[in-house]
Amino acid sequence: MTVAIQSNSPYPVPLKKNGLIESYKENSPTHVIPQKTIDLEVASLLKRIESTPGFDPTVKFDAKKHIIFKEEYCSPEVTKQFTLKDLKITKTHVPPLSDFGAAFPFPLISEEAVNIMLWEGFQPHVLEKWARLPNLATGANRLDFHIGGHARSEAPFSWAFFNSPELSEIVSKFCGFKARPLYNSEVCHFNVSLATEDPEIAATYPKTKEEIDAILAKQDAGDGDAIPSSLGLHYDSSSLALVIMMDLPKEAVGGQTTIVTGDEKSRRVPEPTIGSATIIQGRVLKHLASKPVTNHNRITCVAGMAIAPPILDNTALTSVKPSVMSRARYDTFYSDWTTYRFENLELRLKYLREKLVKRYEDGEKFNQEEVIGWCEEMEEYLHKTWDEMEAVHNPPYPSKHFSTPYDEY
Ligand SMILES: [Fe+2]
Repeated sequence: MTVAIQSNSPYPVPLKKNGLIESYKENSPTHVIPQKTIDLEVASLLKRIESTPGFDPTVKFDAKKHIIFKEEYCSPEVTKQFTLKDLKITKTHVPPLSDFGAAFPFPLISEEAVNIMLWEGFQPHVLEKWARLPNLATGANRLDFHIGGHARSEAPFSWAFFNSPELSEIVSKFCGFKARPLYNSEVCHFNVSLATEDPEIAATYPKTKEEIDAILAKQDAGDGDAIPSSLGLHYDSSSLALVIMMDLPKEAVGGQTTIVTGDEKSRRVPEPTIGSATIIQGRVLKHLASKPVTNHNRITCVAGMAIAPPILDNTALTSVKPSVMSRARYDTFYSDWTTYRFENLELRLKYLREKLVKRYEDGEKFNQEEVIGWCEEMEEYLHKTWDEMEAVHNPPYPSKHFSTPYDEY
């Protein structure tokens, strides 16, 4: 059966004037990466990677070799960590999964892993299909784009890394609950700002320390939305974001992740070195990724993570659905999303069913109130699986709640 949709939403279809992509079902052809970018800057990035001594893209992922994380990095003396309370966040728009707020940079993967993952993601045929210029971005140009959804079919090394139990274990240690990677479309995506190789444009970048400092000071004084970024101020739709630095020359200035603390102040997260990562509970922490002020590459690779079943996750469609996120290919994205949600629900149902059977066998009294609570939770989860789909609701983007002060929740 298919439903005859009678949406009573005031926004029945995605409209460009509301910040949405109208061609989302055709995979946003209006946002493809210009050939000039592929011929110039991407070609030069690939050339650099391929000329690294010993580079071999056929190497298989090996956690022992490619994950360079050490147990002691979890210690707060080694890696700076912030609870939501430390960040003065006491009210959130959805309930947080734990009091974990953010972990500042810690070494995670080797240089070889960085190079192979970049190489897999930046192949021209991968970019053609899986990369798009951002839908909404402040001060973005042909060199700012997103890649994602390619890992399962195009990037065996990246896929194996993000789905490795070793990685989930590391993230779990920081955030205080059992974490797992999200579905394919959200598990390995690159946020890219490339340095221009066009000499005319290059000449427009600040050169002296004074020029650079003046721009940074101006950004810090203004509101977050004015900072040039490939992704404006937002909450993530995934519970956690693991952000790995893939490229950032030492001389680059600016371009950090900026988080908004409970007192609505912007705070720049120190930039990880290449192969290092940060983690934030992005579902409840307002943030943005700014572009470098200088003419340098900044490439991060992000994995959305969530709480592992049988606990139901708190992920959403808001900032990742195809009418908002140009890189999300309609069929792949929704197949990934619904499969992920259904699987979690299956595991939740199995867990609860087994619990009921065991209780009966142990001679326990049946608890109606508790079982009704379980059912309501699952109904809500199922409802959240579709209530933001384009077929029913397309409110303007960026969402209103991105600019609502924490205090108003
Ligand atoms: Fe984010």
